[in-house]
Amino acid sequence: MLKVEVWRGTRQGRFQSFDVPRREHQTILDVVTEIQREQDATLAYRFACRVGMCGSCAMTVNGRPRWTCRTRVAEVVGRDNRLRLEPLPNFTVVKDLAVEMTGFFDKWRDAKGYFEPGGHAGEGFAVVSPTTPQRQAADAGIECIGCGICYAACDVVAWEPDYLGPAALNRAWTLVNDVRDAGNAERMAAVAAASGCQACHVHMNCTEFCPKGLAPTYAIAGLKRETIARALGRRN
Ligand code: SF4
Ligand code: SF4
Ligand code: FES
Repeated sequence: MLKVEVWRGTRQGRFQSFDVPRREHQTILDVVTEIQREQDATLAYRFACRVGMCGSCAMTVNGRPRWTCRTRVAEVVGRDNRLRLEPLPNFTVVKDLAVEMTGFFDKWRDAKGYFEPGGHAGEGFAVVSPTTPQRQAADAGIECIGCGICYAACDVVAWEPDYLGPAALNRAWTLVNDVRDAGNAERMAAVAAASGCQACHVHMNCTEFCPKGLAPTYAIAGLKRETIARALGRRN
């Protein structure tokens, strides 16, 4: 049996204990789903794809933020078979294990983390060679699934709630390197502001915990370099 403690409530609440049979190849999301289906239908949590694509299932598991659909129980429990499940830190808790993501995605918008096509569409498809440094820098960060794990793991987000955070800045860096995009003047102004890339203290938590193996820390370093280059007049 697994001894599972699950956070119940919002900011105020308590842990509730459940016993859940341990099974082969069981994921953390399987455990939560079994509790909700078999023991307490009022337990709130979120998931969609179950295959590491949608980014909606992240929780704190034994003290560390993780994607629960791709985290096997065997990876995280010790000999005591104990699991402690909590909502992600740095987010407002909606209920139990489900958090409010609006502020997180508002920061993507604030970092101009969306493609800006410019005044008119080009003829046909843009051809961007996969071997160029810019394309490779963009590709390195493009597989973000918006799970919020990096954001939950970032101490600067905890200290400075206005900090744009690693995911939004990583997205901004992919667009800075997208040669088709026409919005870099506004984007660089947004990410160079006090709540932007300069606030990163290079703790590396985001890069250590990202389940997709991305490196927001390096993306943010790229934004810092770009900010300096622009300040020195080396960019348009
Ligand atoms: S490297 Fe920067 S963005 Fe990443 S966790 Fe540390 S302070 Fe936050
Ligand atoms: S950068 Fe990684 S940890 Fe952060 S939201 Fe994207 S996939 Fe999740
Ligand atoms: S349920 Fe979609 S990433 Fe886990």
